[in-house]
Amino acid sequence: MTPAISDRAAAGVSSGIIQLFNVTKIYRGGIAALQDVSFEIEKGDFLFVAGSSGAGKSTLLKIILGAERVTQGQLVVNGRNVTRIPPRELTRLRKETGFVFQDFKLLENRSALENVALALQIHGLPPGEVRKRAYHALRAVGLADKRDQRPLRLSGGEQQRVAIARALVNNPLILLADEPTGNLDPALSREIMDQFLEIHQRGTTLLVATHDESLPAYCGRDCIVLDKGRLVRDG
Ligand SMILES: Nc1ncnc2c1ncn2[C@@H]1O[C@H](COP(=O)(O)OP(=O)(O)OP(=O)(O)O)[C@@H](O)[C@H]1O
Ligand SMILES: [Mg+2]
Repeated sequence: MTPAISDRAAAGVSSGIIQLFNVTKIYRGGIAALQDVSFEIEKGDFLFVAGSSGAGKSTLLKIILGAERVTQGQLVVNGRNVTRIPPRELTRLRKETGFVFQDFKLLENRSALENVALALQIHGLPPGEVRKRAYHALRAVGLADKRDQRPLRLSGGEQQRVAIARALVNNPLILLADEPTGNLDPALSREIMDQFLEIHQRGTTLLVATHDESLPAYCGRDCIVLDKGRLVRDG
């Protein structure tokens, strides 16, 4: 039997793309959002993060993204010790990791294609190439024919798929999603999960925070469970 993720990390037998070693995150004001959390995620894994409100799910995703810094412990993402790298490199790390939010965060005055194109942060790319890559990303989520629509003329599920295309257009190794279906009805939620399963099949590592206990079962994937900042179950 494969040892639990946290056991492997604690034993130092680790080859994961995301590795946490006794990570604690204390926000200003003294709230311990994560306490002594250890686990690792292998390249190509697709895992969920569950736990009640305030358990630390968003905080976990934010530290992996490099948007929040770890207070204690070590965090290694794709072979780099994020705990120690300078802010400039953190910015680069952020570009290598795709992030999907609950509320989509699309620009309303831009078309679907433009929203995706804006995320292409590769310097010196000709405009034609940017459009081509953005178009391919939209096509991958089944929205090629909606490319000229503004977000408000798309359904919630379609808006979230634009946001997923935007997160994927830079070909990130890791895709993090924080309650990506929190604003969607059950049918649209499953549509988004089907999208994630497809992305997973292409080799991307996925970590998805959710309140919805039916989603890990629907996807047939394992869950990391947090309770008041502590890891209570992994694998
Ligand atoms: N920027 C912040 N400053 C101070 N405390 C914070 C900050 N962000 C989160 N917290 C606190 O850290 C704890 C964990 O919050 P977090 O947002 O990670 O929980 P969550 O599991 O994502 O909850 P939810 O399911 O409601 O989204 C909470 O007690 C929260 O109040
Ligand atoms: Mg949250």
